[in-house]
Amino acid sequence: MSEIFEKSLRDSSLKIEEVLSNSLKKRSSTNKNLNDAMRYSVLGGGKRIRPFLVTECSKFFDVDDNDIFQIAAAVELLHVYSLVHDDLPSIDNDDLRRGKPSTHKYFDEATAVLVGDALQALSFEILSRSYRKIRKTDQINLINSFAHCVGQSGMVGGQAIDIDESKDDLNIKELIEMYKLKTSNLISFSCQAGGIASGADCNKINALKEFGDNIGIAFQISDDILDVIGDEEVIGKRVGSDLKNNKKTFLNFFNIDESRREIKKYCDLSISSLKIFGPVPETLLGLVNFIREREF
Ligand code: IPE
Ligand code: IPE
Ligand code: MG
Ligand code: MG
Ligand code: MG
Repeated sequence: MSEIFEKSLRDSSLKIEEVLSNSLKKRSSTNKNLNDAMRYSVLGGGKRIRPFLVTECSKFFDVDDNDIFQIAAAVELLHVYSLVHDDLPSIDNDDLRRGKPSTHKYFDEATAVLVGDALQALSFEILSRSYRKIRKTDQINLINSFAHCVGQSGMVGGQAIDIDESKDDLNIKELIEMYKLKTSNLISFSCQAGGIASGADCNKINALKEFGDNIGIAFQISDDILDVIGDEEVIGKRVGSDLKNNKKTFLNFFNIDESRREIKKYCDLSISSLKIFGPVPETLLGLVNFIREREF
């Protein structure tokens, strides 16, 4: 990992942890169990790649830092909801997440369903607050795009294909389409958020969408590889979950070396999507390299 990238991801994670903790405090429920479970699920873990992308990609635009950290927190809350539900017995049935028992294991299944529901609502609540520097029309576009990326034609739609047992004849093209839905959508929203919030030119927003879509695919291919050869202690999740669930993954089509070549291809494509902005910032280059080589 490049030193510049490592330091900026660490700094950004510390800051986002504080913003997340405050957001959860500000809007707590009268039910202690739900509050505890939300804090347990959100705080103290995860790579925080999506908030990092929100803040770093916003640097191409004239935005307010505090506004951007709120948007970054909303994205992470939505992501955590997707993980909590993804681990449920009726979806992937995984008992370990971010190095600790999954929410439904530490609490119970009903609580995990409610945690996801509440985190999703909280993310939209944060995005619809009043912001210092964001025009209302841009804010509506931002919320609309977020809803589109995470709902039935985005992340949730991808998850539905992922668990659809009648789809075990999925070809490689369809598998990549599924990755785009379940994984790239939220990553690519993270990349576009600052541009949308500042009413940027659509060529720039499209370039960031392209960037995010490609790193999202690379990210999911490496997630599939880690599910086979990762170290549980390091990834903080069970190894072999996809096999256990009979999931079709990249490794049904390519061996590990070939898959790594495909990751490189998508990472290279992501970098070339950014040419409209001139030289690619060191932090984003570092992130792309991290995705290419990651072991967690
Ligand atoms: C896991 O995402 C889910 C996928 C889309 C593969 P991350 O690997 O970003 O999970 P955390 O946030 O670091 O736990
Ligand atoms: C996750 O895909 C996609 C989500 C949208 C949550 P996986 O099911 O492979 O993610 P992990 O491996 O459980 O983190
Ligand atoms: Mg899954
Ligand atoms: Mg899973
Ligand atoms: Mg996985």
